[in-house]
Amino acid sequence: MISDLVSICKKGGDIIKDNFNKKLDVKKKSSIDLVTDVDYFVEKVVKEELDRKFPSIEIIAEESALDNIEEEKPVFYLDPVDGTTNFVHGFPFVAVSLAYYVKNRGEIGIVYNPIMEELFTAERSNGAFLNGKAIKVSSTGEMVNSLIGTGFPYSIVESGDNEVIIQRLRNILESSRGIRRAGSAALDLCYTAKGVFDGYYESGLKPWDVAAGKIILEEAGGHVSSLGGGEYDFNEPWIVGSNGLIHDHLIDKINIS
Ligand code: IPD
Ligand code: CA
Ligand code: CA
Repeated sequence: MISDLVSICKKGGDIIKDNFNKKLDVKKKSSIDLVTDVDYFVEKVVKEELDRKFPSIEIIAEESALDNIEEEKPVFYLDPVDGTTNFVHGFPFVAVSLAYYVKNRGEIGIVYNPIMEELFTAERSNGAFLNGKAIKVSSTGEMVNSLIGTGFPYSIVESGDNEVIIQRLRNILESSRGIRRAGSAALDLCYTAKGVFDGYYESGLKPWDVAAGKIILEEAGGHVSSLGGGEYDFNEPWIVGSNGLIHDHLIDKINIS
């Protein structure tokens, strides 16, 4: 199955690559939440290919998702373009993210950045790979030596009450080596899997943003949890991922006492 899914993601990725730095039809879902004709087209092509190969498996994809998600059934989670703002601005941190889940458990994760030619893959209990080579999380054990990835919800502009987000950001800025906001949750998780980031946290994400990256990070030896430290499920408001070693310290710093 994984090789079929990789081929399908590559088809989607080719469309992204062909349109990178080209004129796009950009629309706003809200004041800073963008969607392009390419998001819709990649989603259509990937969904058609999945339907053809795996007709009985449900697909939950960002641009056509319904509200009633039945997570018990086998399901594909698809984000056709994770990093749409990057895509629109020509920042090359953009990926197709596709995951296969059965009974709420990740079985396969694929995150493909066609611009940087980075293909992250993982299958449950089989390790995580970047372009076919095994990857592992970092061995950083202290917050002061760590690089932390994060992101912010689009609603930050309208919300007016972002104290929690800003306070948490401040705590991490003051306790880590630095923060990166690279603009793709899927790739942030993969960069933690690859040992570039030592940890990552964010709020307000959807299943298609993190489903694939979560398996890839876990299979690279990392840990993913809710902010309380318990198991992360897609209904949790905050996700925390790390190399495992700094996990509790990261949670400590994110939490505001
Ligand atoms: C977004 C990216 C971003 C994260 C946003 C997501 P999109 O997904 O993953 O890094 O901070 O909250 O919604 O809109 O580019 O698919
Ligand atoms: Ca996304
Ligand atoms: Ca998207």
